[in-house]
Amino acid sequence: MGFLKSLFGKKTKKEDGPISQKQIELVQNSFALVAPIAEQAAGIFYNKLFELDPSLKPLFTSDISEQGKKLMSMLAAAVNGLNNLTTLVPVVQDLGKRHVSYHVEEKHYDTVGEALLFTLKAGLGDEWTEDVEEAWTTVYVVLATTMKEAAATVEVVE
Ligand code: HEM
Repeated sequence: MGFLKSLFGKKTKKEDGPISQKQIELVQNSFALVAPIAEQAAGIFYNKLFELDPSLKPLFTSDISEQGKKLMSMLAAAVNGLNNLTTLVPVVQDLGKRHVSYHVEEKHYDTVGEALLFTLKAGLGDEWTEDVEEAWTTVYVVLATTMKEAAATVEVVE
């Protein structure tokens, strides 16, 4: 059983899980505000990411604006999928496994998380509250942990 499922499975009541129903709503509603400015958001994200760790640049070989669109649409799918974990978990696990072939390592997930939170904060302005920050942090940690856990099962052939 994956991290996401096991965490959610621990408690019988949904609101007692690591991501409460309220947090799911905060994340979904705040993402909806950023979605219309997805392209700018992607730009902010990559600028911040490469500022935090310039060594990540060479990992991104395809067109960065295409890459930004993929990242935002995947995030949208994940955010909307929080209500339907049975479907979301294998999708996120597969994504994590593919990231091994992009030379993504465990330690990179923290940097990406920091860049993502920075981007959301910039995009949301006054709508960025402590509760929203906490909800996004929780969701990112759960997604990243699910990806890393799946990635760890992949045999790397170099
Ligand atoms: C919640 C976390 C993440 C999400 C939702 C996400 C999403 C995506 C998506 C949708 C793609 C397109 C390709 C595919 O679907 O396989 C992709 C590719 C990629 N991601 Fe991520 N990613 C995440 C974390 C990371 C992290 C931590 C890194 C580390 C730097 C990273 C680096 C890359 C790279 C290098 C590619 C391939 C780029 C290329 O081919 O030019 N991602 N990611």
